[in-house]
Order: sequence, then C-alpha cells, then structure tokens
Amino acid sequence: MSFLLLILLITGTFFQCVASCFFAPELQGEFVMQSSVSAEQYVQYSQVNITSNSIPIWGVCHKRIKNNVILMDNSGGENCFRCFHLSMHSINVLQIRTEGLDKCYFTEERAEQACPDPRGPDSVIKPLQEILLFKTRQITGEEITQEFCPISGQFTFTYNLVEANSYECPHSTSQFNNCPSGSELNLKFRRCAFDDHDITFQCLGHWAGQGGQRYLALMDKRQGSELKQRYRCALYEEDPRTGVIRMAFSGDSTCITGLISATRGHETMVLNPVPKTRWPDAVEQSSCSFPRWAQGHWENLQVNGNQLTYRDQKSFSVSTIKCVGPAMGENREKFGIYTRNQCGEDRYSCMWMTRRANNVMELKMSRITSDRFNASMCLDYAFDNSINGWQTHGKIDIIQESPCPISGEFLGSLPDNDRLCARLYSDCNNPEIMFFTVYDCTMTADVFEGKQSQ
Ligand SMILES: *[C@@H]1O[C@H](CO)[C@@H](O)[C@H](O)[C@H]1NC(C)=O
Ligand SMILES: *[C@@H]1O[C@H](CO)[C@@H](O)[C@H](O)[C@H]1NC(C)=O
Repeated sequence: MSFLLLILLITGTFFQCVASCFFAPELQGEFVMQSSVSAEQYVQYSQVNITSNSIPIWGVCHKRIKNNVILMDNSGGENCFRCFHLSMHSINVLQIRTEGLDKCYFTEERAEQACPDPRGPDSVIKPLQEILLFKTRQITGEEITQEFCPISGQFTFTYNLVEANSYECPHSTSQFNNCPSGSELNLKFRRCAFDDHDITFQCLGHWAGQGGQRYLALMDKRQGSELKQRYRCALYEEDPRTGVIRMAFSGDSTCITGLISATRGHETMVLNPVPKTRWPDAVEQSSCSFPRWAQGHWENLQVNGNQLTYRDQKSFSVSTIKCVGPAMGENREKFGIYTRNQCGEDRYSCMWMTRRANNVMELKMSRITSDRFNASMCLDYAFDNSINGWQTHGKIDIIQESPCPISGEFLGSLPDNDRLCARLYSDCNNPEIMFFTVYDCTMTADVFEGKQSQ
C-alpha cells in the first residue's frame, strides 16, 4: 500500500512553547550517522535519535514546510534555528540535507530562507551537506524492520579495490547469494589476492536516485572493531539480457565518496549469475495458468501466466513458482505448484490463493512439500489454519478501483498520547481516499498532522 503523506499544520497555541510539529512514526527511532573518517578510512559513527517532536542533538520541531523542517535549539542560551530537508529512502535509511550543522539562524524567517527549495533538489542555490542516517532501533525499542534485498539468486563474482594497484579477484571464483535469508547478502571471497573470507551484509533499503540510478544501503554484520565501515552504500545495475549485475561501493558510509555509477566506485564487483537448472519436463509442459484476477504486480508478489515470483515475509525466502495442474478444491482456489527458492532448492507443493477484494489477495502455502506432486498436499489440513496462516497482498498496478472499505467517520484518542485525538473518515465522493487526521482533543480546530492513504 502506498502512503501519500500530507502534512497540514496549524499551530496550536497550547503546544507553542513545547513543539509545533511532529515526526511521523516511521521517521522516529534510533539512528547512527557517520561523524568522521580517519586517514586509513575507519569510519566513526555518532548516535542520533528522532522522537515524536524533536531530534535532541539538533533541536525541537518548530515548523514544517512540506519535506523541510525547521528545528529550534536553545541549549546554547539563544534560540537557534536550522532548516533540514528529510527524505525517507527506505524504512531504515533517512537522508537529511542541511546547509551545515555548524551554522544556525537567530530567526525562523532566516532559517526558512535557507531551506532547500521545495521545487526540488535541482533548484537548490546553496551547496548542502548530505547526511545519511541508518536506523539501529525502532522508537519502541524493537529491532529494525527487515527488508528484502533487491538482488536475489546465486552468482559468482570478480572484485576490484580501485585504489590498489592490482585487481584483487580478477577471476569469477568468489560466490555471492542471498541464501538462506532474502534480507541478507553473503559474499564468499575465494582465490583472491588476499586470504579467503566471508562477509554477510544486511540489506537496509534500496531506492532510485537521479537518472534511474539504483542505490542499496547495507550493514556489515561481521563482529569486531577492526571493521573499517559498518554501513555501506552501493550503486547497482542489472543487464536484463544476461542477468549480469554490476555493483560499486562508496569509500565510507555516505553515498557520495568515490561513488559515481554502478561501474565506477571505491570498490567494484561484477556478479555473473550461476546458470539455473532446467525445470522438470512435467512442469515445463503443464498448460495451467494462475487465475486472471491474480495476474499482475502485487506487494511482494508478481504473477505472470503460469509463473509467480513470491517474497515470503515470514521466512524471507524468494521463490519462483510454477503451477503444475488445474485449480482444485472448493472455489477452485488451490494450485499444485513447483517452487524453486533463491537457494536453488526445488519442491512440489500446493498454494491456496483467495481473492478478498478487487485489489486484495491472500495466500498460504501447504506445509507438505515433496519431490513428487501428491494431491494430499492440497487438502485443508495441510495448511496453517490459524488466523496467522494467510499472508495479505495489495495490488500495486491497480486497474479497477475499489470503494473504500470504511465509510463514515471514526474518532478516537491515540494510544501513545491521550492528549491527541485521531479522526478517520472516508468521503465517498473520493472513494479511493481515506483521510486520517490528528488533533489536540481539547481544541478540535487544531490539526497537527493529516495523512491521506490510498
Ligand atoms: C537515544 O536513545 C537511547 C534510548 O532511549 C539512549 O540510550 C541514548 O542515549 C539516546 N542517544 C542520544 C544521542 O540522545
Ligand atoms: C501422498 O502423501 C500422503 C502424506 O504425505 C501419503 O500418506 C500418501 O501415501 C501419498 N500418496 C501417494 C499416492 O503417494
């Protein structure tokens, strides 16, 4: 589901002395940022927390203008204002642009003039400092949300540390995969100019940059203080014809140091896909197809004729699935399948796929898998029949619009702050939109944050 975030702000007199704006829950949490880099490229990090209304080291949320926020800091005795531009690259990676942390203004107006132009980064007049924040913990104290890596499968690779004189791994003898967890990338360096070793990166998020460049943020999971950079940023591109992926890393924990393109960076790699084994003849020759209503692009799911790619958010597996027989069971919702995961493991099983609404489907996988198909895999008892058994997927390429599920108006107070009330309503003239507003319960006219979800 895509969220269109719209922040409306009318200053509430009640809050004026405390904070006049708030950070959305997805922005809040504990983060680290690069604070310095030694001559030997060891990166030091400092901690940054984002609470509901402040970034304690930089100030209290004072005013919000679209994606710009003015923070006020009076820890030095005087009021000091700075403007920050926030872009959420992914749930765990936040980019902040500012004129400079060492600079601040005595008035809100001057700080506002120094904000990056809301028309976009291209029209910015002043050079801006770019800070990347990596989430280390959620505001609730829980671990960060796992993300799927954008690269999946088995590869061999070559590797080059550009500043060194020679090519470190000139032959494609090292291995690269996202097995067993699709939220991690494993690199096994073999027969290189240095000793064999392994690295596991956790994928923190990926996003599109200017000119269609694809960025990927990673956390090195190796333990030990000799690690030069715990957080890394890379650019990658895939040749759609050959499946070859090129990847380049920046020299520190930003996305700019020495990083120019997917082929030019501080370190570069070329990933060559390991040839896939053929599908069994019985699978290849099967004439079945997934239902018409299911075809297309869903969240974590893509359906194309008789083939489906599925990212399972429980196990973090990434599977390619082909149907092997006609639909079965009551409502013909069950499909015999042949599934191959990112580790190259092949199994027959059964999938139950049901349409809940025009743009919502739920599915679950049989608990029985085997190297031969057997109809008992599709019997009800073979599935997890608890309420957690189903996984829900929303349609991404919506063709047919669906009326809003909630009509009317609902009011309530927020569980984490009983001073604030929330109103949720849908306007059936615009049935695709649900409105969500937060306001001070004692002063119904003051809206602090408005959200529209589609
Ligand atoms: C951030 O929050 C954590 C947990 O509340 C706390 O231990 C830490 O000291 C805070 N760090 C900063 C820089 O405020
Ligand atoms: C199918 O699987 C079930 C349970 O795994 C087994 O009891 C049954 O004998 C199998 N049937 C065939 C025809 O292989």
